[in-house]
Amino acid sequence: MVDPIKILRERGGSVISPLRWSDNRLFLLDQRLLPHKEEWIEVNSWQGAYNAIADMVVRGAPAIGIVAAFGMVLGLKRCISDIKAEDDILKCLVTIGEGLRSARPTAVNLSWAVNRIIKKARRGFLCQNAYNGYNNNDNNNENYDIDNYNNIDADNLLSFLEKEAVSIWREDIISNIEMGKNGLELIKKCSSILTHCNAGALATGGYGTALGVIRYAHFVKKGLKVFADETRPWLQGSRLTAWELMKDGIDVHIICDNAVGLFMRQGKIDAVIVGADRIALNGDVANKIGTYQVAVMAKEHSIPFYVAAPFSTVDISISSGALIPIEERDEREVLTFDGLPIAPSGIRARNPVFDITPNHLITAIITEKGVLTPPYEKKLMGQTRQL
Ligand code: MRU
Repeated sequence: MVDPIKILRERGGSVISPLRWSDNRLFLLDQRLLPHKEEWIEVNSWQGAYNAIADMVVRGAPAIGIVAAFGMVLGLKRCISDIKAEDDILKCLVTIGEGLRSARPTAVNLSWAVNRIIKKARRGFLCQNAYNGYNNNDNNNENYDIDNYNNIDADNLLSFLEKEAVSIWREDIISNIEMGKNGLELIKKCSSILTHCNAGALATGGYGTALGVIRYAHFVKKGLKVFADETRPWLQGSRLTAWELMKDGIDVHIICDNAVGLFMRQGKIDAVIVGADRIALNGDVANKIGTYQVAVMAKEHSIPFYVAAPFSTVDISISSGALIPIEERDEREVLTFDGLPIAPSGIRARNPVFDITPNHLITAIITEKGVLTPPYEKKLMGQTRQL
């Protein structure tokens, strides 16, 4: 198995990744504690992976997909030790997949990764290692016809699925680096780029989507300046984006979310690059709450607005953004800061954590397969089918 961290180091020139997998053990960098503490926690069950995703120890669409894939492997260990009948082991895996899928609803990479592991188990074990393909964009829950598959060799299942989880991780890093290369043509020398939330190494297997494009341009000496908006309420911009860009020596300034309009009007922003949690077939994009208003503001000031995302984030089963489920989290995330109240006691709050940016506000979508410009539908469909 090729070590994903080695790929990051050799091809990406950066080793920041939110996870490590070593001797069948999963370790996650606790992103809730950054930038002040770099603490790794071990996750040793699928429920542990579920909690880490739901509680934001790990976050970012591709990263939670990869952690879910390893969560499936951890869950399978338990299935194998608890259950003897082989077809029941597969049923057990499907049930774990359903559990993991429910940890966060918006990012489609979670379902995508779970489906990929289940398909690998379901098809691959029928004829040991003979099956190498998968439908790269099957984000739908399938009716897994597992009763028809009872020849599975439980002994091999674990290492087989472990390899698949590592592949998902490794492929994500490679696709991020490809996005960086593909996005280079869009970045002018010495330009100022605004990014929202954290679509970086911490939100992926490593390197990053939006920050991957920025990283690549930085390493080929484009002399960039980055503005990271804070991204209330979790402050992924000021805590995470600023942390990882500083670590890689990239010039970054934090600005308040509500300073975006001023900076754009003053001509201080040349382009916006953000990530995505789910892209519908028509090119509408779900991403961190606040992305939509940044896109509207960019349009008003004729600033290009780019989305960088891998095809594992594209959901061709959804025709438009209106059909994407928007996660709403606990109101305490808005009403408190570091455990302290920041609003009148007894007040209620709403906390939707993603919004939809309609396709007409998006100048281009940067993918590992190339830069897509509007209209998106045929291009997203065509490229997805080729995978
Ligand atoms: O709530 P989060 O921190 O998981 O939200 C993350 C984002 O919105 C990112 O921009 C998105 O997942 C893309 S990550 C490459």
